[in-house]
Amino acid sequence: MTSVSLVSAAARRLEGKVAVITSGASGIGESAVRLFFKHGAKVVIADIQDDWETDVENTINFAVSKFGKLDIMINNAGVAGVAKPNILDNTKAEFEEVIGVNLVGAFLGTKHAARVMVPARHGSIITTASVCSIIGGVASHAYTSSKHGVVGLMRNTTVELGQFGIRVNCVSPYLVATPLAKDFLKLDDNGVYSVYSNLKGSLLKPEDVAEALLYLGSDESKYVSGHNLLLDGGFTIVNPGFSMFVPS
Ligand SMILES: NC(=O)c1ccc[n+]([C@@H]2O[C@H](COP(=O)([O-])OP(=O)(O)OC[C@H]3O[C@@H](n4cnc5c(N)ncnc54)[C@H](O)[C@@H]3O)[C@@H](O)[C@H]2O)c1
Repeated sequence: MTSVSLVSAAARRLEGKVAVITSGASGIGESAVRLFFKHGAKVVIADIQDDWETDVENTINFAVSKFGKLDIMINNAGVAGVAKPNILDNTKAEFEEVIGVNLVGAFLGTKHAARVMVPARHGSIITTASVCSIIGGVASHAYTSSKHGVVGLMRNTTVELGQFGIRVNCVSPYLVATPLAKDFLKLDDNGVYSVYSNLKGSLLKPEDVAEALLYLGSDESKYVSGHNLLLDGGFTIVNPGFSMFVPS
């Protein structure tokens, strides 16, 4: 009897933790909400409303007033922007929109999470970046800039917030067949999964990204901070121009 309850407690890796997840209504965020809930977390979802700054601040305040604390903050909201490969066609407004959601959104989430985590001397902040955080040429100029930016923000805040026992990390998925990726690439599920991947025989799903978020949110990663965890099947270390391993 004792061993059964021990196993079930161990299986719930976020028991008693409180998490805020931005854009938890679809795609990767939705999978994370479901998985975190299954593992015993209390999850508050922030989605798009009128003013991102106030919305993020209010959501974090709500989580703390309702549950007494914030253990995990996931900055997941993101937009791909318009697919215009020629920079001359890109407008300042289009560029700023993507930077606003992806980078400024992560800044606000990190800032307001830090506001409540610093006094508690504890917390885990995770931003959903992308393979576009370390390589170019895969998405719009704005998207690639924003995802490189969130890794810079993560690294800077890792140094600052580590002084207060707070860990800061990113997860960086390869393509996942969510509305964001399918709309941007004009591909269906099969296209998203197969066209560019390096690792064959396996498909990256929103649930897989949720598992990485679970790891970084849980105490199993208690000494992991400043890390950009790639889920890309080796995509970012491959230059398809060198084809000695790829049958023609
Ligand atoms: N799908 C992929 O291939 C992929 C790969 C790497 C990284 N990502 C990142 O994962 C995160 C989640 O994306 P997803 O693929 O699950 O996409 P999705 O389209 O399923 O979800 C995107 C979410 O962002 C929200 N959103 C859209 N505009 C917004 C705005 N102006 N303000 C706030 N929220 C807004 C939407 O409501 C939606 O919930 C994003 O940060 C994205 O950049 C996705």
